[in-house]
Amino acid sequence: MTNQNILVTGGAGYIGSHACKALKAAGFVPVTYDNCSTGWQDAVKFGPFARGDLLDRQRLAEVFEEYQPAAVMHFAALSQVGESMREPGRYWRENVTGALNLVEAAVAANCLDFVFSSTCATYGDQDHVVLNEDSAQLPINAYGASKKAIEDILKDFAASDGLRHVIFRYFNVAGADPDAEVGELHQPETHLIPLLLDAVDGKREALTIFGTDYDTPDGTCIRDYVHVCDLVDAHVLGLNWLKDGGEDRVFNLGTGDGFSVREVVDQSSAVTNRAVPIVEGDRRPGDCTKLVSGSNRAVNELGWKPTRSNMETMIRDAWRWHQNTDGHYQK
Ligand code: UFG
Repeated sequence: MTNQNILVTGGAGYIGSHACKALKAAGFVPVTYDNCSTGWQDAVKFGPFARGDLLDRQRLAEVFEEYQPAAVMHFAALSQVGESMREPGRYWRENVTGALNLVEAAVAANCLDFVFSSTCATYGDQDHVVLNEDSAQLPINAYGASKKAIEDILKDFAASDGLRHVIFRYFNVAGADPDAEVGELHQPETHLIPLLLDAVDGKREALTIFGTDYDTPDGTCIRDYVHVCDLVDAHVLGLNWLKDGGEDRVFNLGTGDGFSVREVVDQSSAVTNRAVPIVEGDRRPGDCTKLVSGSNRAVNELGWKPTRSNMETMIRDAWRWHQNTDGHYQK
């Protein structure tokens, strides 16, 4: 890889901005491609910014021409499970058509190394099944279905054009940059930990727990939380894997430890030393009962060493970001 430019779609978003920081630290130049529909221009701190939309094929071609990236890291996507159930058309158009445009632009520019941000939501609700990379993909929401479709696109272009790819299926991403240069900010916010910290802080009245009648020990959903900094470290390893001639590969990114919503609430209360006001509500459509990774492939094959993915550190880092910045970038 002579050119160190990496095109990072969604580089203005939560995970993408942390990826840009990690790429810069590893000696790459992260070029953010983002329409700022859900991201923040002020989160683009670690390399050039090319504003653009994945549905704009001409702009995509221009940016490949201008920066000649050596590889693509594709984060840009709509990513809310609940919203995807209400507006599936947007998920299919923006996620799937957007990714198809990106892949075609990359292939046309002969940029053939591609790292993709997929999700454990592609597995669906497979209770009591260990979720490893060979598990069946049976998504139960349009978000998961859209990500699975993109995985299929990558496989097809690998066969037709030699697109080399690493697919990461994330479990639940949490935490923030320990320096609080970037952090998690969605508007509107829908994710558990930032909402919970808002409730701790009095910015919202209470956290609503979505469903207390699931078939789990305390009745609330179980998720596998992974620190955003560990997650993006895996992406840099994935990039180097491709650079070193590694085969097309899928990796789960999770810790294998499941936390229920109530356990996250309790830990947050302990870390912040404040009560978390909660209300018990109905189930949220599209939510799986339990999503926990059952794979160590990223550790064994990529040499991934997560160091911050314990619940206390994730909440502590998210809380620091929340307090230092009041959770805001300027738009
Ligand atoms: N939850 C609540 N109350 C809230 C928000 C969330 O009880 O106000 C619960 C949810 O029901 C779920 C858990 O907290 O059980 C985590 O919810 P998030 O919205 O934080 O995360 P999701 O599990 O829905 O989704 C996230 C990412 C997706 C990814 C998915 C994989 O947003 O991109 O994890 O599980 F695909």
